[in-house]
Amino acid sequence: MALLLKDIKLGDNIVKKVLFEKHIDFINDYGQDENNYDYGMTDYLRVSGMYWGLTALELMNSEPVQGKDKIVEYIKQCQDPQSGGLSACIGHDPHILHTLSAIQILVMYDRLAAIDIEGVVRYIQGLQQSDGSFAGDKWGEIDTRFSFCAVNALSLLKKMDVIDIEKAVEFVASCKNFDGGFGSRPLSESHAGLIYCCVGFLSITNRLDIIDQDTLAWWLCERQLPSGGLNGRPEKLPDVCYSWWVLSSLAILGRLHWIDTEALKTFIFACQDTETGGFADRPGDVADPFHTLFGLAGLSLLGYDSIQKVNPTYCMPQHVIDKQELKPQRLN
Ligand code: FPP
Ligand code: ZN
Repeated sequence: MALLLKDIKLGDNIVKKVLFEKHIDFINDYGQDENNYDYGMTDYLRVSGMYWGLTALELMNSEPVQGKDKIVEYIKQCQDPQSGGLSACIGHDPHILHTLSAIQILVMYDRLAAIDIEGVVRYIQGLQQSDGSFAGDKWGEIDTRFSFCAVNALSLLKKMDVIDIEKAVEFVASCKNFDGGFGSRPLSESHAGLIYCCVGFLSITNRLDIIDQDTLAWWLCERQLPSGGLNGRPEKLPDVCYSWWVLSSLAILGRLHWIDTEALKTFIFACQDTETGGFADRPGDVADPFHTLFGLAGLSLLGYDSIQKVNPTYCMPQHVIDKQELKPQRLN
């Protein structure tokens, strides 16, 4: 029986360099107009969206045109005084993902003092469940993404001791599958995005020993398709954000050389929009800040000149992680 492989065909005229100026303009212009329809429709992911765009600018050695003070002021207004958590947007319910994104931005800008940190710590601590897992918010969805968000944020705040780390590791370990991958909950299928979250979680908690390293690295490098791009699960199309979820996991496992890095570079270059700036999930699609960050971060892991070195666990500039004196576990 023929094995069907979903993939795309790259065009002939791929620009083989990063179009920095275009991407910087793209990020600075994105969502600036508060009366714009798209701006209104993306309220629910605003603070994480800010993290994607602002980290992309940092990796390109650039700064936001609107100024850092305005950004910090906005984040401050997203903190809920009762729970201590931060929301995607002023007036929304707090959520652990946006709480992490806010902390990442404030650490990057050295402005943690702008918010109530004790409140944030209390919020995250309160989301841990008796089985060690974390809920995303007060409504109780459980997912390994939230375990990662919790230890990522708490480690940036140097407050890891407020949670039960052993139980938290036990829950993540219970989400490991026969193929070496991890899913969102026990018995959920392996997915590269969630593998990044679990590998990142285990790198922060210094427990990479629980991973079946060769089995997982093999599953990860099988995500590369003939186009050079990576998919997130078998039978899916390549997508530039998986240049981050897959590549960062391989980098933490010390096995970046298990994939064809030149072919992946070409795929990522091809995802740039040469007119509007920004990267799309696939060549020819509409660019957005999410795929722009992960395209640039992927190229950084591949050693592209003049992009800041990114830390594969935190998805933040390496110099910021060094300044915090954080040393997430990484295999050779
Ligand atoms: C794919 O989602 C991606 C994931 C499931 C990973 C999400 C990761 C986080 C929320 C943590 C982010 C933190 C940092 C520091 C970057 P999808 O819904 O697009 O999956 P699909 O491709 O299967 O549709
Ligand atoms: Zn994507």
